[in-house]
Amino acid sequence: MSAPPLIVLTGAGISAESGLATFRDNNGLWERHRVEAVATPEAFARDPALVHRFYNARRAQLADPAIRPNAAHHALARLFAAWPGPALLVTQNVDDLHDRAMPGSAALLHMHGELKKIRCTGCGHGREWAGDLSPQTPCPGCAATGTLRPDIVWFGEMPLGMERIEAALHSCGLFLSIGTSGQVYPAAGFCAALRGRARTVELNLEPSLGSHLFSEAIQGKATEIVPGYVETLLSKQKQ
Ligand code: APR
Repeated sequence: MSAPPLIVLTGAGISAESGLATFRDNNGLWERHRVEAVATPEAFARDPALVHRFYNARRAQLADPAIRPNAAHHALARLFAAWPGPALLVTQNVDDLHDRAMPGSAALLHMHGELKKIRCTGCGHGREWAGDLSPQTPCPGCAATGTLRPDIVWFGEMPLGMERIEAALHSCGLFLSIGTSGQVYPAAGFCAALRGRARTVELNLEPSLGSHLFSEAIQGKATEIVPGYVETLLSKQKQ
């Protein structure tokens, strides 16, 4: 059987059982902050020290040995290693759990940026960053201060890799959406864009806002439903 071009979209729900908080499951607060207070260019302009402290804490959390890829991240790594057709893993997550489960994979695209990357708004220098940032941290590229920011896509900013995502959507035959509430565009619109052209499957703890648009919706915890779904898909490909 020939394999349809695959896109998997993931959101915070896939990392929840690894110990990372989702965005909208806690009365609209993300780690006790309103999203608009820490995840907008306006918030950064108003109080860069607060925004840096917030992202420093999120980045430091990734170094906690208890925070590890879970069975759902590993199942997707198996899927991507074995899928015989084109495949793209688009994550909205800024954590590095997919990266750790499938190191060096060219199929992984962080459309909302990465906690472990920073960039300079002055000279454009970008690099990996494991430690803390503050408004006083000099840019390793141009030595300016006050210009470094987390390489995260904030509300109102353009997601990364959209050309590649749109090209993949154009030819997609199978779309899986895992652990995302479907509230943030453009990712929330991918399923509707594929309607009638691709098989679309939602795997989420609860039905998302756009759940009715999918060909199939499976409810449960990611670690419980994703590995089984992946094994079924792979065994169908072998038939
Ligand atoms: N397994 C599967 N799904 C889960 C689990 C779990 N263990 N726990 C929670 N979920 C589901 C929730 O039911 C919810 O529908 O994951 C979804 C998480 O939704 P959000 O918190 O809204 O996260 P996400 O969809 O990734 O947010 C999108 O919003 O704030 C921005 O840029 C940020 O990338 C983020 C974007």
